[in-house]
Amino acid sequence: MIPVGLDIGTNYTKATKDGKNVTIFPSIVAYGEEKDWSLKGEEKEVYVGEEALAIIQSLENVEAMRPLHEGRLMHQSYMELAKHALKVLDVKPDVVATGLPVKSSKKEREELAKDIKEQLKTDVLIFPEPVGTLAYMGIDTGVCVDIGFGTTDIVVLGHMEYLRGDTMLVGVDWLYDNIEVIIRNKAGISVTPEELTKLLTTPDYEVGRIRGGKRITISHNDVKDEYEKLMKSWVERISSRTKLILEGLSTAIVDKLVLTGGGSLLPGAYEEFSKSFEDVAEVIRPDDPITSNAKGYYTLAKILLEEKGEEAKAEEAAEESKAEGKKKGKVKKE
Ligand SMILES: Nc1ncnc2c1ncn2[C@@H]1O[C@H](COP(=O)(O)OP(=O)(O)OP(=O)(O)O)[C@@H](O)[C@H]1O
Ligand SMILES: [Mg+2]
Repeated sequence: MIPVGLDIGTNYTKATKDGKNVTIFPSIVAYGEEKDWSLKGEEKEVYVGEEALAIIQSLENVEAMRPLHEGRLMHQSYMELAKHALKVLDVKPDVVATGLPVKSSKKEREELAKDIKEQLKTDVLIFPEPVGTLAYMGIDTGVCVDIGFGTTDIVVLGHMEYLRGDTMLVGVDWLYDNIEVIIRNKAGISVTPEELTKLLTTPDYEVGRIRGGKRITISHNDVKDEYEKLMKSWVERISSRTKLILEGLSTAIVDKLVLTGGGSLLPGAYEEFSKSFEDVAEVIRPDDPITSNAKGYYTLAKILLEEKGEEAKAEEAAEESKAEGKKKGKVKKE
């Protein structure tokens, strides 16, 4: 039985077929211009991942789609990204284990499960996003806050059962939108989220554009102070919502408090979040917060498949011994 852990995020798609090595590519699907003639029955060219990112930066008339927007699912691009991930991993899985925002609707989950089953011809498991990280860390009772690009998801588990959770429409994008405006006002240039990540996480990095025959650059130091202020109020919003969710819970549950997602890697974010919870519990982080959900989905799928396999074996054994019993019974009678 082959499981695949698949985490399709607003910004990155992460997938693994062994729970250790994770393939990552940008969650972008680009549809090229409609063709005048279609000889292969394809009316539009579809580009996925790195290729899509390159295409949207260099061609006009392309329509770019992301799988999640404001915590809602866009099916068509989601399925393109899922197919691409399996192609890159070069695997035909028996089960795909994946996640959706905690506050996704039941209908959304059912539709996604149906699409995956029909189009990828596999079984499917869908978890609330942060559960992946908890499973990866071997925690069955605890709290996980996942700061992603588009949403922040909070989940509380007790003995591997969902107790409470929430989805905030505030992710890294909120922070980046604000910094982007500051840079635009300061230097008159627009920067991409990818450039912003480098600018914030690499000390000597510079972003530049040529304007009117001149070089205009922005460096890490130019945005440091404003970033610090914005980051603090951003973390403050996320921690106050988390505290609302934790209100009234037993300390035994909150003892394991995990922060994950790419947002937790931005400078100062983890430290600020930890400080805000110093009277509650120690905040811990997985070794790689970007890939930990995908690895955890894999682990969960594997455990569930093994349990199912054992159940089936036990049933088979019970059937066999029943049949044996009958046979013996018959023999006796004869
Ligand atoms: N070293 C890094 N490399 C890449 N991204 C980083 C790094 N450090 C911080 N980040 C931030 O992490 C973000 C991606 O986080 P993550 O992969 O958890 O989001 P996502 O899963 O795509 O989004 P969501 O869960 O909201 O759908 C990037 O947009 C970037 O801002
Ligand atoms: Mg995510």
